Amino acid sequence: MSSNLEITRKACVVGWPIAHSRSPIIHKFWLTHLGLAGSYDSVAVTPPDFVAFAHDLAANGFVGANVTIPHKQTAFEVCGKVTPTAASLGAVNTLWLEHGALCGDNTDVAGFLAALDEEAPGWDRAEGHAVVLGAGGAARAVVHALRHRGKRVLLANRTRARAESLATDAGAGVEVYDWARLPSALKGASLLVNTTSLGMKGHPALDIDLAPLPPHAVVNDIVYFPLETALLRAAKSRGLRTVSGVGMLLHQAAPGFERWFGVRPSVTPELRGLVEADVLKSL
Ligand code: ATR
Repeated sequence: MSSNLEITRKACVVGWPIAHSRSPIIHKFWLTHLGLAGSYDSVAVTPPDFVAFAHDLAANGFVGANVTIPHKQTAFEVCGKVTPTAASLGAVNTLWLEHGALCGDNTDVAGFLAALDEEAPGWDRAEGHAVVLGAGGAARAVVHALRHRGKRVLLANRTRARAESLATDAGAGVEVYDWARLPSALKGASLLVNTTSLGMKGHPALDIDLAPLPPHAVVNDIVYFPLETALLRAAKSRGLRTVSGVGMLLHQAAPGFERWFGVRPSVTPELRGLVEADVLKSL
């Protein structure tokens, strides 16, 4: 009797464009493997329609949603309640409802840290600062995460003014470096993170000399399309530990799934393989 009355919970990822999102693969995998009655699909919503979509989320039968480009800032603005992380970033990638009120979190921060913890354990105890390349939305999440773990951050971006604005918002412990001075920033660094679109398929490669990095440094490229960027290849050939962008993609999905469907899902090798195969297929 109760199974007939069981509500099939419905969630989605909303963006514009949305066709290439891997989120449905991840959430459908968890729903199937956990034997839960639920659905998760992609919804294409244009910027002028996003506010109405968010307001009507419950009316349209959704228990929540992931939000991706270009709606993360608007999603933050329409929420009645946000987590401290989302408040610090001014951006929301996960929506859910509490007593009808729209709530938001930014799980990119936790996803980034979980991927590093899993794939490069001990990274945050190694001596040295972090170097972050880029100053867009992804860089904001990464810098916030690194400061949360107490890492000093040297930030370099093609457009220096954007890095300065990020550093001002982030507060103490973040220093802006000119891109041209990267070799000296890399000296003594324990972590290098690329958050720019350089290295992504269809974009120029990120061409920097990794020689100044110490041998214990970890190189993390949050680009996952392709799975192994030229930056990661260069780091591996120097014998450095590397972390690809797939881990962050997988781990950022878990908190939303738990809020909507009530079970904390695991990032398993099987799930990783499934997502990596999908990336390879579309390259
Ligand atoms: P996201 O929100 O996903 O981080 P974004 O806001 O478009 O995306 O940011 C992209 C990042 O890649 C920026 O740091 C951008 O540098 P600028 O702020 O100077 O635009 C960086 N980027 C993109 N193309 C680049 C290029 N050819 N050389 C150097 N940096 C580049």
